[in-house]
Amino acid sequence: TALVVDFGAQYAQLIARRVRELSVYSEIVPHRISAAEVADKAPSAIILSGGPASVNIDGTPRLDPAIYELGIPILGICYGAQLIATQLGGTVGRGLAGEYGRARVTRMAESSLVPDEVPDEYDVWMSHFDAITVAPPGFTPTASTKDAPVAVLENDTRRIWGVQYHPEVVHSPYGMRVMERFLHDLAGCNTSWSMASVIDEQVAAIRHRVGDARVICGLSGGVDSSVAAALVHKAIGAQLTCIYVDTGLMRKGESEQVVETFRRNLGIELIHADEGQRFFDALAGVTEPEAKRKAIGEQFIRVFERHTGGVSDAEFLVQGTLYPDLIESGGTDGTASVIKSHHNVGGLPDDMELELIEPLRDLFKDEVRALGTELGLPDEMVWRQPFPGPGLGVRIIGEVTPERVALLQEADAIVREELARAGLEREIWQSYAALLSDVRSVGVMGDERTYGHPIVVRAVTSDDAMTADWARIPYEVLETMSQRIINEVTGVNRVVYDITSKPPGTIEWE
Ligand code: XMP
Repeated sequence: TALVVDFGAQYAQLIARRVRELSVYSEIVPHRISAAEVADKAPSAIILSGGPASVNIDGTPRLDPAIYELGIPILGICYGAQLIATQLGGTVGRGLAGEYGRARVTRMAESSLVPDEVPDEYDVWMSHFDAITVAPPGFTPTASTKDAPVAVLENDTRRIWGVQYHPEVVHSPYGMRVMERFLHDLAGCNTSWSMASVIDEQVAAIRHRVGDARVICGLSGGVDSSVAAALVHKAIGAQLTCIYVDTGLMRKGESEQVVETFRRNLGIELIHADEGQRFFDALAGVTEPEAKRKAIGEQFIRVFERHTGGVSDAEFLVQGTLYPDLIESGGTDGTASVIKSHHNVGGLPDDMELELIEPLRDLFKDEVRALGTELGLPDEMVWRQPFPGPGLGVRIIGEVTPERVALLQEADAIVREELARAGLEREIWQSYAALLSDVRSVGVMGDERTYGHPIVVRAVTSDDAMTADWARIPYEVLETMSQRIINEVTGVNRVVYDITSKPPGTIEWE
């Protein structure tokens, strides 16, 4: 294991992912971690992340100094490197010319950290205001940049190294070589982390924990719950029952695919709660977005409840919680959580007390995708875009009816097909069609005047859905989408492209 000590930048997660790409298991720990806690975890390597603070300001985060004495190899990155310098007796200058973006590093001395094949001058990505001016006693500065006199510092005896730049970002072309050198050669980390090893370990752990008990899993059709279910099924087979609440508001072909994949291809016991009509009944006359969400949410709970009645002896519930979910909620201490069903998981009978199984809780999204592929899930499922729980219900602006859903499904399928044909689907965070069902405009087709509804095409790029930008889809692709939608979807005579970023817009229309 490599521990990534988080000094409060968004980089800790990226570092942890890069470490895993190098086949070494990584865990993110808070910077307050004590030397005793580190010793307890017995990691093979420690990486100190970057952070937004200045080491020259009192009260900014520090590493427990006793950690430097444990003899565990340490690599400091950016703020982490500056901490090493300050805490071990060097100097970090304030208010020098900072560097942001690309910088050129020049080697000054022989280096054990930067491999020989890296040229004497190389580009890196920097983001710092302070700079190390004097390396601590026993440390050798081995590289510099124009504004960072000590860009790399090394102490082979104490096995502590630091880089001012960010080796984890793609804009540092040799960065991964430096991280690899540290993890594989200098720290000698175990390099057996792979999705195959995750499957083996999880299967054993789930079997051990579950014994003969029954397990249930709510499937949404999304990546996380699908992979979690497939993994648990591999461990305990027929003891798992999945429940898929089909709201009738899914995209074209999606429910069929869930049923086909789970029942037929994977042989998982699946309850298909095909209850679209109930949702349409609840949505009749409802146009206000929050009221729609509420109506859908309430129905969902009722439907789920009715269908779990038959598996009332279940003791465990599978959830597709991922590592970033836990990091963000500050819960990475590994404590097993027991939930009272009616508190957290809408829709379980009140008297059911279930223990959670979260087989993906150590994994990042890209790893979950790789795991899904390894478990035999189809690409469409593994690479599925995020999709809102209320489904097409919030993509029909106005009242939701079965006819409108059917129309939107056709238009939406064309948007997705054309993006896939253009090879753009994995670059795009979300893409969809929305129907403005209360708006009509005039058009002309052949000799006929038309008076139909507009379809909005929305496609955005994003990293985390918190912010997003409209995707610069080539005009030709938009053109094909527009032509096909108008020709193939009856009732639509106009197509518009949404060019609003988030903020100020949101990704969804409602
Ligand atoms: P907005 O529209 O707020 O969406 O920019 C951000 C992300 O959240 C998804 N989304 C939802 N997901 N239930 C969900 O499970 C919801 O009610 C919901 N509303 C929005 C949206 O698709 C985007 O990925």
